[in-house]
Amino acid sequence: MKKIMLGLLLAVGLVMGVLAGCGQTAKNSVNFGMKDSKLIDKKADQKNDTDITSGEIQVGIVLPTKNEPRWLQDQKQFEEILGNAGFKSQVLFSQGSSTTEKTNVEKLIGKGIKVLLICAQDGSVAAEAVEEARDAGVKVIAYDRLITDTDAVDYFVTFDSFSVGAEQGQYLIDKAPSGTGIPLYLYAGSATDNNAYVFFEGAWSVLQPKIADGTFKIANSSEAEALKGKGNLNRDELGRIIRQITTDWDFSEANAKAAEDLAAVGPDLKGDVAVLAPNDGTSRAIADAFMADTDIISYLITGQDGEKASLQYVIDGRQSMTVFKDTRTLAADSVAMALDLLNGREPVTDTTYNNNVIDIPAKQAAIVVVTKENLKQTMIDSGYYEASDFSGL
Ligand code: BGC
Repeated sequence: MKKIMLGLLLAVGLVMGVLAGCGQTAKNSVNFGMKDSKLIDKKADQKNDTDITSGEIQVGIVLPTKNEPRWLQDQKQFEEILGNAGFKSQVLFSQGSSTTEKTNVEKLIGKGIKVLLICAQDGSVAAEAVEEARDAGVKVIAYDRLITDTDAVDYFVTFDSFSVGAEQGQYLIDKAPSGTGIPLYLYAGSATDNNAYVFFEGAWSVLQPKIADGTFKIANSSEAEALKGKGNLNRDELGRIIRQITTDWDFSEANAKAAEDLAAVGPDLKGDVAVLAPNDGTSRAIADAFMADTDIISYLITGQDGEKASLQYVIDGRQSMTVFKDTRTLAADSVAMALDLLNGREPVTDTTYNNNVIDIPAKQAAIVVVTKENLKQTMIDSGYYEASDFSGL
Protein backbone atom coordinates (compact mmCIF):
# COMPACT_ATOMS: atom_id res chain seq x y z
CA MET A 1 0.00 0.00 0.00
CA LYS A 2 2.84 2.31 0.89
CA LYS A 3 4.24 2.10 -2.64
CA ILE A 4 0.87 2.77 -4.24
CA MET A 5 0.04 5.62 -1.91
CA LEU A 6 3.46 7.07 -2.51
CA GLY A 7 2.89 6.77 -6.26
CA LEU A 8 -0.43 8.53 -5.95
CA LEU A 9 0.96 11.26 -3.75
CA LEU A 10 3.84 11.75 -6.17
CA ALA A 11 1.46 11.93 -9.10
CA VAL A 12 -0.79 14.45 -7.39
CA GLY A 13 2.28 16.32 -6.19
CA LEU A 14 3.56 16.40 -9.74
CA VAL A 15 0.37 17.94 -11.08
CA MET A 16 0.42 20.48 -8.23
CA GLY A 17 4.08 21.18 -8.85
CA VAL A 18 3.45 21.72 -12.52
CA LEU A 19 0.51 23.97 -11.75
CA ALA A 20 2.82 25.95 -9.53
CA GLY A 21 5.15 26.34 -12.48
CA CYS A 22 8.11 24.28 -11.38
CA GLY A 23 9.82 21.87 -13.76
CA GLN A 24 13.16 20.23 -14.25
CA THR A 25 14.52 17.64 -16.63
CA ALA A 26 16.88 14.81 -15.77
CA LYS A 27 17.62 12.36 -18.55
CA ASN A 28 19.17 9.00 -19.06
CA SER A 29 18.76 6.96 -22.18
CA VAL A 30 16.76 3.85 -23.08
CA ASN A 31 16.84 2.57 -26.65
CA PHE A 32 14.22 0.12 -27.78
CA GLY A 33 15.11 -0.06 -31.46
CA MET A 34 13.12 -0.99 -34.54
CA LYS A 35 9.43 -1.38 -35.02
CA ASP A 36 7.54 -4.10 -36.86
CA SER A 37 5.24 -2.62 -39.47
CA LYS A 38 2.36 -5.12 -39.53
CA LEU A 39 -1.00 -3.38 -39.66
CA ILE A 40 -3.64 -4.70 -37.30
CA ASP A 41 -6.94 -4.68 -39.05
CA LYS A 42 -9.30 -6.36 -36.62
CA LYS A 43 -13.00 -5.78 -37.18
CA ALA A 44 -13.37 -2.22 -36.10
CA ASP A 45 -16.24 -1.07 -34.02
CA GLN A 46 -16.48 2.33 -35.64
CA LYS A 47 -18.71 3.66 -32.89
CA ASN A 48 -16.96 5.89 -30.41
CA ASP A 49 -18.08 6.43 -26.86
CA THR A 50 -19.23 9.98 -27.10
CA ASP A 51 -19.92 12.06 -30.11
CA ILE A 52 -17.89 15.18 -30.37
CA THR A 53 -20.23 18.07 -29.87
CA SER A 54 -19.50 21.64 -30.80
CA GLY A 55 -17.12 23.76 -28.74
CA GLU A 56 -13.36 23.78 -28.60
CA ILE A 57 -11.54 21.11 -26.64
CA GLN A 58 -7.96 21.47 -25.52
CA VAL A 59 -6.84 17.89 -24.94
CA GLY A 60 -7.72 15.00 -27.23
CA ILE A 61 -7.14 11.42 -26.11
CA VAL A 62 -7.10 8.38 -28.38
CA LEU A 63 -7.07 4.93 -26.74
CA PRO A 64 -6.79 1.51 -28.47
CA THR A 65 -9.97 -0.31 -27.46
CA LYS A 66 -12.78 -0.32 -24.98
CA ASN A 67 -12.95 -4.11 -25.13
CA GLU A 68 -10.17 -4.36 -22.52
CA PRO A 69 -10.82 -3.12 -18.95
CA ARG A 70 -7.29 -1.67 -18.86
CA TRP A 71 -8.19 1.17 -21.26
CA LEU A 72 -11.51 1.90 -19.57
CA GLN A 73 -9.55 2.52 -16.37
CA ASP A 74 -7.34 4.98 -18.26
CA GLN A 75 -10.40 6.70 -19.70
CA LYS A 76 -11.94 7.02 -16.21
CA GLN A 77 -8.76 8.55 -14.78
CA PHE A 78 -8.40 11.01 -17.67
CA GLU A 79 -11.95 12.22 -17.42
CA GLU A 80 -11.62 12.69 -13.66
CA ILE A 81 -8.23 14.37 -13.62
CA LEU A 82 -8.72 16.57 -16.69
CA GLY A 83 -12.22 17.52 -15.56
CA ASN A 84 -10.96 18.45 -12.09
CA ALA A 85 -8.19 20.52 -13.66
CA GLY A 86 -10.82 22.45 -15.61
CA PHE A 87 -10.01 21.13 -19.08
CA LYS A 88 -12.28 20.27 -21.93
CA SER A 89 -11.19 16.91 -23.23
CA GLN A 90 -12.45 14.11 -25.42
CA VAL A 91 -11.59 10.40 -25.30
CA LEU A 92 -12.01 8.37 -28.50
CA PHE A 93 -11.37 4.65 -29.01
CA SER A 94 -9.73 3.08 -32.07
CA GLN A 95 -11.28 -0.37 -31.51
CA GLY A 96 -8.31 -2.26 -32.91
CA SER A 97 -8.15 -0.28 -36.15
CA SER A 98 -5.39 2.07 -37.25
CA THR A 99 -7.83 3.56 -39.76
CA THR A 100 -10.29 4.48 -37.01
CA GLU A 101 -7.39 5.78 -34.97
CA LYS A 102 -6.38 8.17 -37.77
CA THR A 103 -9.97 9.33 -38.23
CA ASN A 104 -10.15 9.94 -34.47
CA VAL A 105 -7.00 12.05 -34.58
CA GLU A 106 -8.39 14.03 -37.50
CA LYS A 107 -11.71 14.61 -35.68
CA LEU A 108 -9.85 15.89 -32.65
CA ILE A 109 -7.63 18.16 -34.75
CA GLY A 110 -10.84 19.51 -36.25
CA LYS A 111 -12.05 20.32 -32.73
CA GLY A 112 -9.04 22.55 -32.16
CA ILE A 113 -7.09 20.41 -29.68
CA LYS A 114 -3.75 21.77 -28.56
CA VAL A 115 -2.43 18.51 -27.09
CA LEU A 116 -2.98 14.96 -28.34
CA LEU A 117 -2.47 11.99 -26.01
CA ILE A 118 -2.41 8.85 -28.10
CA CYS A 119 -1.95 5.19 -27.27
CA ALA A 120 -1.18 3.76 -30.70
CA GLN A 121 -2.84 0.72 -32.12
CA ASP A 122 0.22 0.07 -34.25
CA GLY A 123 3.32 2.00 -33.23
CA SER A 124 4.65 2.44 -36.75
CA VAL A 125 1.40 3.02 -38.64
CA ALA A 126 0.40 5.73 -36.12
CA ALA A 127 3.32 7.86 -37.38
CA GLU A 128 1.15 9.25 -40.18
CA ALA A 129 -1.66 10.31 -37.84
CA VAL A 130 0.66 12.11 -35.43
CA GLU A 131 2.43 13.84 -38.31
CA GLU A 132 -0.95 15.30 -39.29
CA ALA A 133 -1.40 16.47 -35.72
CA ARG A 134 2.06 18.00 -35.62
CA ASP A 135 1.41 19.78 -38.94
CA ALA A 136 -1.75 21.23 -37.40
CA GLY A 137 0.31 22.68 -34.53
CA VAL A 138 -0.76 20.07 -31.98
CA LYS A 139 1.71 18.79 -29.36
CA VAL A 140 1.83 15.00 -29.37
CA ILE A 141 2.30 12.82 -26.29
CA ALA A 142 2.60 9.08 -26.93
CA TYR A 143 0.68 7.44 -24.10
CA ASP A 144 1.79 4.03 -22.72
CA ARG A 145 2.95 2.75 -26.15
CA LEU A 146 5.83 4.23 -28.14
CA ILE A 147 5.12 5.62 -31.63
CA THR A 148 8.04 4.83 -33.90
CA ASP A 149 9.57 5.93 -37.19
CA THR A 150 8.65 9.60 -36.94
CA ASP A 151 9.92 12.82 -35.42
CA ALA A 152 6.36 14.00 -34.74
CA VAL A 153 6.20 12.78 -31.14
CA ASP A 154 7.05 15.40 -28.53
CA TYR A 155 6.87 13.31 -25.34
CA PHE A 156 6.26 9.77 -24.12
CA VAL A 157 4.47 8.87 -20.88
CA THR A 158 4.77 5.23 -19.97
CA PHE A 159 5.26 2.61 -17.29
CA ASP A 160 8.57 0.87 -16.79
CA SER A 161 7.69 -1.84 -19.29
CA PHE A 162 11.04 -3.63 -19.17
CA SER A 163 10.50 -4.15 -15.43
CA VAL A 164 7.00 -5.51 -16.10
CA GLY A 165 8.50 -8.35 -18.15
CA ALA A 166 11.43 -8.83 -15.77
CA GLU A 167 9.06 -9.16 -12.80
CA GLN A 168 6.92 -11.67 -14.67
CA GLY A 169 9.98 -13.76 -15.51
CA GLN A 170 11.39 -13.47 -12.00
CA TYR A 171 8.09 -14.62 -10.50
CA LEU A 172 8.21 -17.81 -12.57
CA ILE A 173 11.81 -18.41 -11.48
CA ASP A 174 11.06 -17.77 -7.80
CA LYS A 175 7.97 -19.96 -7.65
CA ALA A 176 8.98 -22.78 -9.99
CA PRO A 177 9.17 -26.27 -8.50
CA SER A 178 12.70 -27.46 -7.76
CA GLY A 179 14.56 -29.55 -10.30
CA THR A 180 15.25 -29.14 -13.99
CA GLY A 181 13.38 -29.40 -17.26
CA ILE A 182 10.30 -27.51 -16.01
CA PRO A 183 8.13 -26.97 -19.10
CA LEU A 184 7.94 -23.25 -19.94
CA TYR A 185 5.22 -21.93 -22.23
CA LEU A 186 5.91 -18.49 -23.70
CA TYR A 187 3.29 -16.03 -24.95
CA ALA A 188 3.63 -12.40 -26.06
CA GLY A 189 1.51 -9.39 -26.94
CA SER A 190 0.87 -7.96 -30.38
CA ALA A 191 3.87 -7.73 -32.72
CA THR A 192 2.69 -4.24 -33.76
CA ASP A 193 2.89 -2.95 -30.17
CA ASN A 194 6.37 -1.82 -29.18
CA ASN A 195 5.52 -2.67 -25.58
CA ALA A 196 5.22 -6.36 -26.49
CA TYR A 197 8.92 -6.27 -27.41
CA VAL A 198 9.91 -4.46 -24.25
CA PHE A 199 7.88 -6.80 -22.00
CA PHE A 200 9.37 -9.86 -23.66
CA GLU A 201 12.87 -8.40 -23.56
CA GLY A 202 12.46 -7.86 -19.80
CA ALA A 203 11.20 -11.39 -19.24
CA TRP A 204 13.94 -12.89 -21.42
CA SER A 205 16.61 -10.98 -19.49
CA VAL A 206 15.89 -13.10 -16.42
CA LEU A 207 14.48 -16.30 -17.94
CA GLN A 208 17.19 -16.91 -20.54
CA PRO A 209 19.92 -17.92 -18.05
CA LYS A 210 17.44 -20.33 -16.45
CA ILE A 211 16.57 -21.79 -19.84
CA ALA A 212 20.23 -22.04 -20.80
CA ASP A 213 21.11 -23.88 -17.57
CA GLY A 214 18.27 -26.39 -18.05
CA THR A 215 15.97 -25.24 -15.22
CA PHE A 216 13.25 -24.51 -17.77
CA LYS A 217 12.55 -26.30 -21.03
CA ILE A 218 10.77 -24.22 -23.68
CA ALA A 219 7.58 -26.02 -24.67
CA ASN A 220 6.12 -24.02 -27.51
CA SER A 221 8.61 -21.88 -29.41
CA SER A 222 11.21 -23.25 -31.79
CA GLU A 223 12.41 -19.65 -32.35
CA ALA A 224 13.05 -19.09 -28.64
CA GLU A 225 14.64 -22.54 -28.42
CA ALA A 226 17.02 -21.62 -31.26
CA LEU A 227 18.05 -18.45 -29.43
CA LYS A 228 18.21 -19.86 -25.89
CA GLY A 229 21.98 -19.39 -25.71
CA LYS A 230 21.71 -15.64 -26.26
CA GLY A 231 21.07 -13.20 -23.42
CA ASN A 232 20.66 -10.03 -25.44
CA LEU A 233 18.38 -10.40 -28.41
CA ASN A 234 18.29 -7.81 -31.17
CA ARG A 235 15.04 -6.44 -32.53
CA ASP A 236 14.96 -8.92 -35.37
CA GLU A 237 15.49 -11.90 -33.05
CA LEU A 238 12.87 -10.64 -30.62
CA GLY A 239 10.50 -10.22 -33.56
CA ARG A 240 11.04 -13.81 -34.69
CA ILE A 241 10.05 -15.14 -31.27
CA ILE A 242 7.19 -12.71 -30.72
CA ARG A 243 5.59 -13.41 -34.08
CA GLN A 244 5.61 -17.12 -33.22
CA ILE A 245 4.10 -16.76 -29.74
CA THR A 246 1.93 -13.68 -30.25
CA THR A 247 -1.57 -13.50 -28.78
CA ASP A 248 -2.20 -10.28 -30.70
CA TRP A 249 -3.53 -9.05 -27.31
CA ASP A 250 -6.63 -11.06 -28.18
CA PHE A 251 -8.35 -13.37 -25.67
CA SER A 252 -9.70 -15.91 -28.13
CA GLU A 253 -6.43 -16.01 -30.02
CA ALA A 254 -4.58 -16.59 -26.72
CA ASN A 255 -6.94 -19.36 -25.66
CA ALA A 256 -6.80 -21.09 -29.05
CA LYS A 257 -3.01 -20.85 -29.21
CA ALA A 258 -2.58 -22.33 -25.73
CA ALA A 259 -4.99 -25.19 -26.52
CA GLU A 260 -3.09 -25.87 -29.76
CA ASP A 261 0.26 -25.83 -27.95
CA LEU A 262 -1.02 -28.26 -25.32
CA ALA A 263 -2.38 -30.56 -28.00
CA ALA A 264 0.99 -30.57 -29.77
CA VAL A 265 3.23 -31.61 -26.84
CA GLY A 266 3.87 -34.94 -25.20
CA PRO A 267 3.62 -35.87 -21.49
CA ASP A 268 7.20 -34.68 -20.81
CA LEU A 269 5.96 -31.10 -21.37
CA LYS A 270 2.90 -31.44 -19.11
CA GLY A 271 2.69 -31.94 -15.33
CA ASP A 272 3.87 -28.92 -13.31
CA VAL A 273 4.49 -26.09 -15.75
CA ALA A 274 5.26 -22.37 -15.94
CA VAL A 275 3.56 -19.95 -18.32
CA LEU A 276 4.69 -16.48 -19.33
CA ALA A 277 1.45 -14.69 -20.26
CA PRO A 278 1.84 -11.06 -21.30
CA ASN A 279 -1.24 -9.41 -19.76
CA ASP A 280 -4.31 -10.17 -17.69
CA GLY A 281 -6.83 -10.74 -20.46
CA THR A 282 -4.60 -13.20 -22.28
CA SER A 283 -3.53 -14.74 -18.97
CA ARG A 284 -7.10 -15.68 -18.08
CA ALA A 285 -7.68 -17.07 -21.56
CA ILE A 286 -4.48 -19.13 -21.46
CA ALA A 287 -5.15 -20.25 -17.88
CA ASP A 288 -8.56 -21.56 -18.98
CA ALA A 289 -6.84 -23.76 -21.57
CA PHE A 290 -4.32 -25.07 -19.02
CA MET A 291 -7.07 -25.71 -16.48
CA ALA A 292 -8.98 -27.74 -19.05
CA ASP A 293 -6.01 -30.04 -19.77
CA THR A 294 -6.15 -33.05 -17.46
CA ASP A 295 -2.42 -33.75 -17.92
CA ILE A 296 -1.51 -30.40 -16.39
CA ILE A 297 -1.05 -30.95 -12.65
CA SER A 298 -0.26 -27.34 -11.78
CA TYR A 299 0.65 -24.17 -13.60
CA LEU A 300 2.21 -20.85 -12.66
CA ILE A 301 1.01 -18.02 -14.87
CA THR A 302 1.86 -14.34 -15.05
CA GLY A 303 -0.27 -11.34 -15.98
CA GLN A 304 -0.26 -7.57 -16.07
CA ASP A 305 -2.62 -4.62 -15.54
CA GLY A 306 -4.42 -5.52 -12.31
CA GLU A 307 -7.77 -6.09 -14.02
CA LYS A 308 -10.65 -6.94 -11.69
CA ALA A 309 -11.37 -10.27 -13.39
CA SER A 310 -7.74 -11.30 -13.04
CA LEU A 311 -7.58 -10.28 -9.40
CA GLN A 312 -10.56 -12.57 -8.85
CA TYR A 313 -8.59 -15.28 -10.72
CA VAL A 314 -5.65 -14.63 -8.38
CA ILE A 315 -7.92 -14.90 -5.33
CA ASP A 316 -9.35 -18.14 -6.74
CA GLY A 317 -5.88 -19.58 -7.48
CA ARG A 318 -6.38 -19.59 -11.27
CA GLN A 319 -3.81 -16.86 -12.08
CA SER A 320 -0.60 -16.60 -10.06
CA MET A 321 0.23 -12.92 -10.23
CA THR A 322 -0.39 -9.67 -12.03
CA VAL A 323 1.71 -6.56 -12.47
CA PHE A 324 -0.32 -3.54 -11.40
CA LYS A 325 0.13 -0.45 -13.51
CA ASP A 326 -1.62 2.35 -11.67
CA THR A 327 -3.50 4.27 -14.35
CA ARG A 328 -4.01 7.09 -11.84
CA THR A 329 -0.28 7.77 -11.98
CA LEU A 330 -0.02 7.58 -15.76
CA ALA A 331 -3.03 9.81 -16.32
CA ALA A 332 -1.71 12.31 -13.74
CA ASP A 333 1.73 12.32 -15.42
CA SER A 334 0.11 12.94 -18.79
CA VAL A 335 -2.12 15.70 -17.52
CA ALA A 336 0.86 17.36 -15.88
CA MET A 337 2.62 17.27 -19.23
CA ALA A 338 -0.40 18.57 -21.08
CA LEU A 339 -0.68 21.44 -18.58
CA ASP A 340 2.96 22.32 -19.07
CA LEU A 341 2.61 22.29 -22.83
CA LEU A 342 -0.56 24.38 -22.75
CA ASN A 343 1.27 26.87 -20.54
CA GLY A 344 4.40 26.98 -22.66
CA ARG A 345 6.57 25.24 -20.06
CA GLU A 346 8.98 22.35 -20.53
CA PRO A 347 7.48 19.18 -19.02
CA VAL A 348 9.30 17.15 -16.38
CA THR A 349 10.85 14.00 -17.86
CA ASP A 350 13.18 11.38 -16.43
CA THR A 351 14.43 9.36 -19.38
CA THR A 352 14.41 9.19 -23.18
CA TYR A 353 13.22 6.47 -25.60
CA ASN A 354 14.63 6.16 -29.10
CA ASN A 355 11.94 5.55 -31.71
CA ASN A 356 14.31 4.89 -34.66
CA VAL A 357 14.29 8.58 -35.58
CA ILE A 358 14.65 10.67 -32.43
CA ASP A 359 15.19 10.36 -28.69
CA ILE A 360 11.83 11.18 -27.16
CA PRO A 361 11.87 12.75 -23.69
CA ALA A 362 9.84 10.44 -21.47
CA LYS A 363 8.26 10.13 -18.05
CA GLN A 364 8.26 6.60 -16.72
CA ALA A 365 6.02 5.28 -13.91
CA ALA A 366 6.81 2.44 -11.53
CA ILE A 367 4.94 -0.87 -11.42
CA VAL A 368 3.89 -3.17 -8.55
CA VAL A 369 3.81 -6.98 -8.44
CA VAL A 370 0.51 -8.25 -7.04
CA THR A 371 -0.04 -11.74 -5.64
CA LYS A 372 -2.68 -13.22 -3.36
CA GLU A 373 -0.57 -12.10 -0.38
CA ASN A 374 -0.54 -8.34 -1.09
CA LEU A 375 -3.67 -8.02 -3.24
CA LYS A 376 -5.84 -6.41 -0.57
CA GLN A 377 -3.12 -3.97 0.39
CA THR A 378 -2.18 -2.90 -3.14
CA MET A 379 -5.50 -2.96 -4.94
CA ILE A 380 -8.12 -2.20 -2.30
CA ASP A 381 -6.49 -0.35 0.57
CA SER A 382 -4.97 1.98 -2.06
CA GLY A 383 -8.52 2.91 -3.13
CA TYR A 384 -8.20 1.51 -6.66
CA TYR A 385 -11.03 -1.02 -6.30
CA GLU A 386 -13.69 -1.75 -3.67
CA ALA A 387 -13.51 -4.91 -1.53
CA SER A 388 -17.11 -5.58 -2.63
CA ASP A 389 -15.84 -6.02 -6.22
CA PHE A 390 -14.41 -9.41 -5.15
CA SER A 391 -15.50 -12.60 -3.49
CA GLY A 392 -13.41 -14.78 -1.18
CA LEU A 393 -10.97 -12.03 -0.30
C1 BGC B 1 -0.25 -2.19 -22.44
C2 BGC B 1 -0.84 -3.23 -21.52
C3 BGC B 1 -2.09 -3.84 -22.16
C4 BGC B 1 -1.78 -4.29 -23.59
C5 BGC B 1 -3.01 -4.77 -24.32
C6 BGC B 1 0.04 -2.81 -23.78
O1 BGC B 1 0.61 -1.89 -24.65
O2 BGC B 1 0.92 -1.64 -21.88
O3 BGC B 1 -1.15 -2.65 -20.29
O4 BGC B 1 -2.56 -4.91 -21.44
O5 BGC B 1 -1.20 -3.27 -24.33
O6 BGC B 1 -3.92 -3.76 -24.50
